[in-house]
Formats: sequence, structure tokens, C-alpha cells
Amino acid sequence: MPIRRISSKWAKTEALLASPELRGLVPDTRPFDKQTVRGMLDDYGMIYVKPVNGTFGQGVIRLGKTAGNDEGYTLQAGEKQQSFTSYEAMYDSLLKLKRPRTYLSQQGIELLKQSGRRFDFRVMVQMSPAGRWETTGIIGRLAHPRRIVTNYHAGGTPLPMETLMKAHLENAGRTSSGYRRQLSKLGVDVASVLGKRFPGLKEIGIDVAVDTSLKPWILEVNTMPDPFIFLRLPDRSVYRRIRRYATAYGRFRRAKRGSSKSKRRSGGKR
Ligand SMILES: Nc1ncnc2c1ncn2[C@@H]1O[C@H](COP(=O)(O)OP(=O)(O)O)[C@@H](O)[C@H]1O
Ligand SMILES: [Mg+2]
Repeated sequence: MPIRRISSKWAKTEALLASPELRGLVPDTRPFDKQTVRGMLDDYGMIYVKPVNGTFGQGVIRLGKTAGNDEGYTLQAGEKQQSFTSYEAMYDSLLKLKRPRTYLSQQGIELLKQSGRRFDFRVMVQMSPAGRWETTGIIGRLAHPRRIVTNYHAGGTPLPMETLMKAHLENAGRTSSGYRRQLSKLGVDVASVLGKRFPGLKEIGIDVAVDTSLKPWILEVNTMPDPFIFLRLPDRSVYRRIRRYATAYGRFRRAKRGSSKSKRRSGGKR
């Protein structure tokens, strides 16, 4: 069976929502339209809107509603932040900024920060040669200081999980190894659920947000995840195992042409 790619964020999110164990870890996700966006801003105060078939953080927009009596809204896309005094004005700008594609609306998670920069995690889960789902890599991504997405293609910096989580975990009396185990299990749970819905799946990369209470949230699942980001970890054995598993299920078959850095960098999704 060929390696499967499922590009619709909807299809993948719906599969997770159908799972009683995972449903609570998925932010509320709904279609994009004027009333839904308004209602979700009332409910959550902050939401993300993004293309259903997006990649690399492109077209992702963050919307906020200011608390209190005065109606106020904020919108950020790229490095540009704007404020509005009415919902109508904000929505007009949003329609101009958004790409002409199908979007979805998602409850916003306040990401943890380091030096004022947001960060989240990529959890890589692969089918092992022994035929079991295994979490093979976890890496943090620290957003560009003025951006709302952590993607490498949007100026994000890959960093070891421990570097980003150390202080937050210590404050909560928790250990890095315990948290790593928690994220690893989450990864295997997500892969098991999606693997049943989409037979032929061999690897996934989960974007995991951690909120201020250290609860992990599943932002999206990628079915052709970028393996090369794991080259940025000091522990080289992580990438070696990822590559070994991927070679076993045929992901690297056509990579023989050359292994120059630029060619390798252009493959896969971050
Ligand atoms: N609901 C959300 N709450 C907080 N941050 C989010 C949310 N959705 C997306 N983001 C941020 O935007 C980035 C890109 O969004 P994502 O859904 O992964 O789309 P893409 O396919 O473009 O990577 C995420 O890695 C995260 O940093
Ligand atoms: Mg992503």
C-alpha cells in the first residue's frame, strides 16, 4: 500500500473528535464564516483561522477580542498587528487578508513563551519495522519574536523540548522525562486512532501546543511530516532512527538522486 497523505485538516480533526480519549485534547474547531468567528471570539476571547489545506503556517491568522465593556478586536497575520473598534471593521480586514481558500476557525491556545516568543512542539510518530506505532522524535519550535506561528518556514527555531520546558516543568514540580513520556503516549494514541481511520498511514507529525497549565493540545496532524527538522537535535540518534524507520516503509525510495542539503531541505513539510 502506498504511503498515505491526508491534506484536509477537517478530515483529520474529525477522526480525532470521534475518539472519546482524544476529543478533549482537540481545540474546538468549526467552519469559517462571519457568525461562527464572532461566536467563537465571544466564547474563547482568542481564535486562530487557517486554511483547511494549509502548510508552513501560511495564511494563518490570529484574532482576539478585548475583555470588558468596550468592543475591541485585534487581528494578526505575519508580523502585522491591527486593532479595531467594531467586529464589522475587523471582519472586513480579515476577508482582505485571508487567502481565497476554504478556512476553518479554531479555539486559540495561549502558547507558553520563552523570552516573549511563543513555542509549541512537533511529535513524530512512525510505524516501526516491527509493525507498532512508536513516537520517534519530539522537538520544540520557538516562534519568530513577532510572529504567531512557530513553523520553521516562518522563522521558527527548532530546539530540544527540555530547553523550552525546563523552567515551566520545574515550577509545576514535574520532570522532563515524565512530560516526554506523556507526549510520547499522546503521539501513539493519535497515530492508533488515525491509522484505523486511514489505513496505510505510516508516519504522522503532530503539532502540539502546551497551555499555561501544561495541558497538551493537538493543533493539527501532518501526514507527510518533515523528518529533517530532527537533524537540529544534538542527539543524532533521533534522526538516525527516524530515517531507518522511514526507509523501511519506503519514504526515502526516491531520495537517491542526491543528498545535498538544499535538496533534502526542500522535501517534506514543516
Ligand atoms: N488553535 C491554535 N492556538 C494557538 N496556536 C495555533 C493554533 N493553531 C495554529 N497555531 C499556531 O500556528 C502554527 C501553524 O498552524 P497549523 O495548524 O499547524 O498549520 P500549518 O499546516 O500551516 O502548519 C502552529 O504550529 C501554532 O504555532
Ligand atoms: Mg503545522
